Amino acid sequence: MELLQERIRKDGVIKSGNVLKVDSFLNHQMDIELINEIGKEFKRIFAECPINKILTIEASGIGIACLTAQYFNVPVVFAKKAQSINIDGAVYSAKIESFTHKKTYDVIVSKKFISPEDRILIIDDFLANGCALAGLIDIVKSAGASVEGIGIVIEKGFQNGGEMIRNMGIRLESLAIVESMNAENSTIEFRK
Ligand code: G4P
Ligand code: NA
Ligand code: NA
Repeated sequence: MELLQERIRKDGVIKSGNVLKVDSFLNHQMDIELINEIGKEFKRIFAECPINKILTIEASGIGIACLTAQYFNVPVVFAKKAQSINIDGAVYSAKIESFTHKKTYDVIVSKKFISPEDRILIIDDFLANGCALAGLIDIVKSAGASVEGIGIVIEKGFQNGGEMIRNMGIRLESLAIVESMNAENSTIEFRK
């Protein structure tokens, strides 16, 4: 998505450790006009898919999922992060081991909000090693529902999450795939 790549070049800040900061427009301050265009683009890409629900994960995914959901006319469910859980049978849960944050946490979704007939589009802001996404996919499968596709705003193509998800045979569409970035001279290459 050209508009998004231009914005990343203009306002993204490349930090050491291969971290791309986009908090001036995507995941802290949010440019609603841009994110609305992102939502339209996901609709264009997944127009043929019989999606009846969007699933994301708190916190940064929620706003993006909501603006996207307007174009699909479907509800958004967001997975909640929990430090520890009492499994009382009322929730689906998955363990996420974040390499980025060097910690393990559980994500949960109430069983009330995903059922076997659901055809789900998963939306998130970033894809790095894909641990968070793997957890969401796990939850959808536990519910007996299907993943129609995954829409990511920024994929870090030099980390292994994208390959892992595509190898699962799931349709993954990332609006910008960063091939490489350099903190010293502030350059960024996108996959064509
Ligand atoms: P992981 O397995 O390495 O942990 O990668 P994953 O793709 O699951 O991403 C873990 C978290 O790190 C996600 O946030 C993701 O958005 C964030 N992240 C990864 N790389 C970058 C980056 O280069 N820049 C920024 N800004 N974020 C990055 P999260 O745990 O879902 O937290 P939240 O921000 O949504 O609350
Ligand atoms: Na996120
Ligand atoms: Na994030």
